[in-house]
Amino acid sequence: MVFKGKRLLLGVSGGIAAYKAAELARRLVVAGAGVKVVMTRSGQEFVTPLTFQALTGQSVAGSLFGPGAQPLEHVTLGQEVDAIVLAPATANLIGKMAAGIGDDLLTTVLLAASRPVLVCPAMNSQMWRQVVVQENIGRLKARGLTVMEPEVGALACGDEGPGRLPEVERIMEALAKLVTCQDLTGQRILVTAGPTHEDLDPVRLITNRSSGKMGYALARAAWRRGAEVCLVSGPTALAAPYGVELVMVRSAQEMLATLRQRFPAASALLMAAAVSDYRPESLAVQKIKRGAEAQQFQLVQNPDILKELRSLKTNQMVVGFAAETQDLVAAGRRKLKDKDLDLIVANEVGRPDAGFAVDTNEVTLITREGDILPLPLLSKEEVAQKIMDWLAQKLAPAK
Ligand code: C5P
Repeated sequence: MVFKGKRLLLGVSGGIAAYKAAELARRLVVAGAGVKVVMTRSGQEFVTPLTFQALTGQSVAGSLFGPGAQPLEHVTLGQEVDAIVLAPATANLIGKMAAGIGDDLLTTVLLAASRPVLVCPAMNSQMWRQVVVQENIGRLKARGLTVMEPEVGALACGDEGPGRLPEVERIMEALAKLVTCQDLTGQRILVTAGPTHEDLDPVRLITNRSSGKMGYALARAAWRRGAEVCLVSGPTALAAPYGVELVMVRSAQEMLATLRQRFPAASALLMAAAVSDYRPESLAVQKIKRGAEAQQFQLVQNPDILKELRSLKTNQMVVGFAAETQDLVAAGRRKLKDKDLDLIVANEVGRPDAGFAVDTNEVTLITREGDILPLPLLSKEEVAQKIMDWLAQKLAPAK
């Protein structure tokens, strides 16, 4: 959704990771972006321009002079796009940028560019560790360019260490931020996600079907819009969202303890976790053996986290979620009041296309002021955007 209609310039320089740039170009096109590729001469030694032309449906620019060169392209290309991504960015390209050299089409485009630039370095570990390369990286950062950390692992040359091109997924996340309005800059947003695990014995537990998808989507959306985000997550199978601080917890009590520490400094809490209302009264030290025909376990109530945090509330916006099977709005309103929330996101569960574990959701937003905004069936990413629209407009600009 973020890339729909965006115009991007992908600069490909000459490292073996250039082959991964083909996947990046493809994914960006699928996500709805128009991708113009500019390659250095060495980049073209690793992957042919034809590969990128076929993937993007646009001609690839590669030289300042000669038959394919367009007049003024060196100036216009970096000004007509929403953002520029350099993947892979070699030590040579980084060095030229740091020194202000423009001796080919890509470096000249970068000198004339007026749009945000994402640099995705990829090189041998020894090169990456060189003082001069690190100095150059520092200079690019100081000029406001966004530079990703290369990933650590096995390199094509046989070495192990930092230098791998960041995963395409992560490059896309970092790039998404560069093409998104930064209306949550300076805000500290706390998000909870996933189920909780309430242990019965060393191998058994009480939990629920929450996948964490809604909370993770909220964390990603807030980070993209410029917020500093802490995601407190119960156990899920999801990958850590790029750029977000992830704190993993298991039980409701652990989640409460973490939130007690984090909530006072936050500007907003989005409580998307499906917290277990009950936990076993006691935790068996050994695995409970099969025995009598019927077993009974005593459950005790877990703290209602939102209610517990009320006494710590100062200026934070607090958003709760309500999963209901009937009387959505009435139940939502009741909970909003009861838990002293600024917004409640109510959704009907039990449908195949909304609620737990699926990628879509149909929710109704109910505000403290009494406004009721029913939203259509949307992806969880889109629902997260709608909630962030409300939040951005509610939060006073950070000082
Ligand atoms: O009352 P109910 O559990 O339906 O309310 C749901 C909202 O309350 C969610 O935002 C959920 O994260 C939060 N909650 C909580 N502590 C609990 C149970 C739910 O904060 N023990």
